[in-house]
Amino acid sequence: MTGIRGLSAARRRPGVLGVHSLDHFSMSVPDLEKAKNFYDAFGLDVRRNGCHLTLHTNDHPHCWGVLSEGHRKKLLYVSFGAFEDDLPRFREHLGAMNIERLPAPPGFESNGLWFRNLDGLPIEIRVAEKVSPDFKSRFTAPSAGPAVRGTISRSKAPTTRPRRLAHVATYTSDVPRAVEFYTRVLGLRLSDSSEGNVAFMHGAHGSDHHMIALARSDGPGLHHCSWDVGGIQDVGLGAMQMANKGYDQGWGMGRHVLGSNYFHYIRDPWGSYSEYSADMDYIPADVDWAASDHHGNDSFYLWGPSPPADFVRNFETDNQA
Ligand SMILES: [Fe+2]
Repeated sequence: MTGIRGLSAARRRPGVLGVHSLDHFSMSVPDLEKAKNFYDAFGLDVRRNGCHLTLHTNDHPHCWGVLSEGHRKKLLYVSFGAFEDDLPRFREHLGAMNIERLPAPPGFESNGLWFRNLDGLPIEIRVAEKVSPDFKSRFTAPSAGPAVRGTISRSKAPTTRPRRLAHVATYTSDVPRAVEFYTRVLGLRLSDSSEGNVAFMHGAHGSDHHMIALARSDGPGLHHCSWDVGGIQDVGLGAMQMANKGYDQGWGMGRHVLGSNYFHYIRDPWGSYSEYSADMDYIPADVDWAASDHHGNDSFYLWGPSPPADFVRNFETDNQA
């Protein structure tokens, strides 16, 4: 069954073969109970599904993440969504490029195509509903008028609950070659890059400034998963709700230059991060974004505290032994 209701309503760049969405990611973690506590506290809807945990957001039917138990934290695969009529084209496209196809990992249902990226990380292209937004996501920054109290007491602070998975940032051993791979094979487009250390890619059919970020390391891994929230207050309250539960390590609040989002990264129990993100730049399906390369010092963040010294340490390749 590959028919997806509502697909035809999604925005689409005509005549272009490219994935439309980051569908979900999967990683192993050494302790699923710890993971459940962390992502519950973060404001996600975490469900037990057989031997997996699945990550959902409130009021959204999509599954954004699949976690399984393993002896260490490890990014297992990244799945991208494609339009149904593009899947046969992708099948031909992979064949024409002599990209070796893989079976789906045991225990994972798939209607799609599996292969490895240049770092050996499994990638899936599956038929799925377009979950990257068709419009810039709503951002609110309410301001009270005169003679009106602008905020609420602390005890009444709402829980931040992300609306959707915004992007993942993955490590790669060669950023320019990874950009070339994701462009040629998946039809993603470069949004911006910085000196071979990091690159950001968007979908041709309309998406945020990046659905995937690529960061230089000595091998694959997950740097962070990023979750869209509706405003600066949601970012700040999210960081506070995590600190109140003992998750007080991370980086933020600040504002990135590339993508322009407000951020706060919360360090998870395995050294990677979950990011609260608000007001990311948006690239519509009918816009050719002018990508450029930026100096690191001028583009990492516009304002915010200094990042932790080990912010871009790949704990997955650390643990290889
Ligand atoms: Fe991010």
